[in-house]
Amino acid sequence: MKRNRILSALMAGTMVLSLAACGSSASTSTEAAKPAETQAAATAAAPAGDTKKADGMKVGIAMPTKSLERWNRDGSFLQKQFEDKGYKVELTYSDNKIDQQVKDIEGLIADNVNLLVIAAIDGESLSQVLAQAKEANIPVISYDRLIMNTDAISYYVSFDNYTVGKLQGEFVRDQLKLDEAGDKKYNIEFTAGDPADNNAGFFFNGAMDVMKPYIEKGVLNVPSTQTDFNQVATPAWDTAKAMSRFQNILGSYYSDGTQLDIALCSNDSTALGVTQAIESDYSGTNSVIITGQDGDEANLKNIVDGKQTMTVYKAVANEAVATLDLGVALLNGEKPDEGLIKSAGWNFDCAYDTKSYDNGTGIIPSYLLVPTVVTKDNIQKELVDTGYYTMDDKGYPHPVG
Ligand code: BGC
Repeated sequence: MKRNRILSALMAGTMVLSLAACGSSASTSTEAAKPAETQAAATAAAPAGDTKKADGMKVGIAMPTKSLERWNRDGSFLQKQFEDKGYKVELTYSDNKIDQQVKDIEGLIADNVNLLVIAAIDGESLSQVLAQAKEANIPVISYDRLIMNTDAISYYVSFDNYTVGKLQGEFVRDQLKLDEAGDKKYNIEFTAGDPADNNAGFFFNGAMDVMKPYIEKGVLNVPSTQTDFNQVATPAWDTAKAMSRFQNILGSYYSDGTQLDIALCSNDSTALGVTQAIESDYSGTNSVIITGQDGDEANLKNIVDGKQTMTVYKAVANEAVATLDLGVALLNGEKPDEGLIKSAGWNFDCAYDTKSYDNGTGIIPSYLLVPTVVTKDNIQKELVDTGYYTMDDKGYPHPVG
């Protein structure tokens, strides 16, 4: 009720809509935004007066864990974006513990936040606590990972998760020219993410949909026979778990000299474990194609050193900008739609999707950003020239911010 009054007062006051006329196109410029440019985009998107309106408003940001590299970047980008616009921010990390995240969100609600931005540890475990958020009229943005089975979610901001996996599959297909394979056959093993994370299935399906026809034709062979998501999943996206599962696979199916050609890993934390397993337990001398996602520092080093072949990069600085503009619109009592993409003036690709993400209570309107394939050959262009990373004098990239 109190929050309703705040919102009504804001709406009746000096509200300046950041939502202009709706554009029909679902995407904007194709050029990836530099962090500096994203700041500019955010500034352009937020008309003068926003800072005044932000006075006293508080944003609660719940991130899963500091132990997986990207969430540190997400947390600090989000915090900075909202603080730069004059909002107070409470940022929590829950050590990948579900109960802890529930408590942390309860704490944010008790602290009277006006908006919640949540990257869930377990997408299925937040229904009760988010019922409290709904009761308190706090809008909730499901950040990066879709929160399931709750109608308290207003919107979802993420990258196109299916495309992330598809890019990994297409990369393998193109590297090995699978369409012209003739009699050649390759051995592949899969490593997927956390079953509690709704994204993990999208990544796996995106990759598997590209790989499956080649498995069916016999061009790709899976010596372990592990091709179901549940067989290849990695609880908590944990590097050590991915490593030990892969050591078992190598010990059971490759110790007779069978050549491993491809380790298709859904992200960088799992790719790191798989790469370590290959280094310690694989006797072959060929270089194995290893995929990943995120552009974690250790993985980029491995890419430069030729130990990992690619990663799918997602500019989380832009994800934070999209979340900021969506969040400000929600705090202003608006009901954003695809028009937000144009009115915000983002200089990165984003699609408004009202079909793909059903969280069990219905479709959650989604803003989906576009991921990029990064290899040794385009690290400079995609990560350094764009301003997301700096290169040290040994030629290794380090994230900015
Ligand atoms: C994110 C990925 C990340 C993974 C583990 C997923 O939900 O979308 O970018 O690699 O979680 O942190």
